[in-house]
Amino acid sequence: MCGIIGVLGTHEVAPVLVDALKRLEYRGYDSAGIATVHNGKLDRRRALGKLINLSDLLVHEPLIGKSGIGHTRWATHGEPTVKNAHPHISGRVSVVHNGIIENFQELLKELKACGYAPTTQTDTETVSMLVDHYLSQGETPLQSVRNCLTKLNGAFGLCFLFEGEEDLIIATRKGSPLAIGYGDGEIYVGSDAIALAPMTDRISYLEEGDIAVLSRSQVSIEDKDSSPANREIRTIRSGSNRFEKDGYTHFMEKEIYEQPSVIAQNLKHYISDTGQITLNGINLDFSSIERITLVACGTAFYACLTAKYWFEKLARIPVDVDVASEFRYRTPPVAANTLAIFVSQSGETADTLAALRYCKDKAAHIWSVTNVTESSIARESDVDLPIYAGIEIGVASTKAFTCQLTVLLTLALKAASDQNQINDHKRHEILSSMQSLPSLINLALNCSENLRFVANELAHATDILFLGRGLLFPLALEGALKLKEISYIHAEAYAAGELKHGPIALIDETVPVVVMAPQDSLFDKTLSNVQEVMARKGRILMIADAKALKDAGQGFWKAIEMPHCHEIISPIIYAIPAQMLAYYTALAKGTDVDQPRNLAKSVTVE
Ligand code: G6P
Repeated sequence: MCGIIGVLGTHEVAPVLVDALKRLEYRGYDSAGIATVHNGKLDRRRALGKLINLSDLLVHEPLIGKSGIGHTRWATHGEPTVKNAHPHISGRVSVVHNGIIENFQELLKELKACGYAPTTQTDTETVSMLVDHYLSQGETPLQSVRNCLTKLNGAFGLCFLFEGEEDLIIATRKGSPLAIGYGDGEIYVGSDAIALAPMTDRISYLEEGDIAVLSRSQVSIEDKDSSPANREIRTIRSGSNRFEKDGYTHFMEKEIYEQPSVIAQNLKHYISDTGQITLNGINLDFSSIERITLVACGTAFYACLTAKYWFEKLARIPVDVDVASEFRYRTPPVAANTLAIFVSQSGETADTLAALRYCKDKAAHIWSVTNVTESSIARESDVDLPIYAGIEIGVASTKAFTCQLTVLLTLALKAASDQNQINDHKRHEILSSMQSLPSLINLALNCSENLRFVANELAHATDILFLGRGLLFPLALEGALKLKEISYIHAEAYAAGELKHGPIALIDETVPVVVMAPQDSLFDKTLSNVQEVMARKGRILMIADAKALKDAGQGFWKAIEMPHCHEIISPIIYAIPAQMLAYYTALAKGTDVDQPRNLAKSVTVE
């Protein structure tokens, strides 16, 4: 979703802004722009589409100045056009914005009455007009921003640049994150630490309602009550190679191949060498937990759905799983002692955060599973369990998903122990199967050539079905989502047993059906469903281990052999072919794998 950058530099700032915007590309965007203030005057350049268009424009029409702001826009209000691209300028104020101003129509009426005429279809322009309005009444920039904030409803990260002020940026947040970076005589602000990484590793994060007044020599922050606030400056691990593709064609490919090592890292934090569950040193006890609510969006939601099977199977604790956008507005009853777990790669997804706050209000125990320990979701939880996936750049989540699954399985196992639902033998059996995850994933990655071959054919399909049963059903959903996201082929997933209740009507020789069916306790049932598809000329792509493939006999369109694994970890192993199938299909179609159309990595609007 929209990316923000602001720099008070010691050199020309345009190349620095564009470079930072490149590092924010992964969030998803449809247009980009930068503004500077030079010799007291505001000026800007904006371009539709990829950043290369903005860079080209800057070659022909350079932008001078050592102070500037920049933006990658993911359209919400108003189509992607140059006019609607940020930064917006109204009078003496330029602004970039991430989020939504919900009452902008109302504000627009008031502004029109004051003589302002909007030049865009965006909600954001009301913000620059409002601040300009207060400036023209003689207020200081800070007071103008303060006044403006009292009028805004919605979620925002905002960054302002002012005419005549070459040593001033004002940044404020409510809902959308902003990080301040401290350099050598320079100051930066950005949507996240990734944007600032090559410039500085000294970062502080703004909290809800903070206003930061930045100059090259000083940063002063006031909190939502206008009291001075101190936000700790931390040194973050930068390591610029984390933002390189390291020889891979796409970040998604790199991240798929990183899974053995990041999962090994993850296991180190959650399970000791001697096979004890250590939970990252956090003392958690499930013995009095009677019910668990899991809430998330997108891929993280499918991780939660898988975890439901684990918690219920292993720990016998009933689990409710919800999509955050539905949960928050359904106003479900939440008993005070409910354990609510929020799963989010970014830790900033607006709906998940709102659902968390809803539960917090009801005095539930709030845990989160995130990939960003400084994120809003991690910080607002009673307990945050990091997934140690490392930065994930590809919009389609891969390594974060398998790391989320690994943490959630460890939690389910701990819950099973605390609830006396598992004996030592069984626990050790599962823990040792988890220890073998990195090597099994390596074996699964070896199927890449076969998958690439199949994907070249899948790329011609217009509809694809995914089937799975039990623990493999949520994975079928994830497989279909991955394929849709990056190849733009329509894909749907069903619980294999549900097929005959409707979707079987879709089956003919043109619809490939991807079946993920390890030799587990439900294999025979799945196989019956596969036969039903084949009897109707359906083309089955069977992804299964050697024994399952042998037992299943002939007649498949294609078969991919997976390593044999313990049933309980099969969703983690089978995630690999699901991801690679999507990746290679997208490659065959020539789509933009790392930044698929219309999608954003971190969805900070509802
Ligand atoms: C977006 C991303 C998905 C992600 C979802 C939830 O839609 O494109 O890949 O699964 O948000 O994100 P989160 O950061 O909360 O896991």
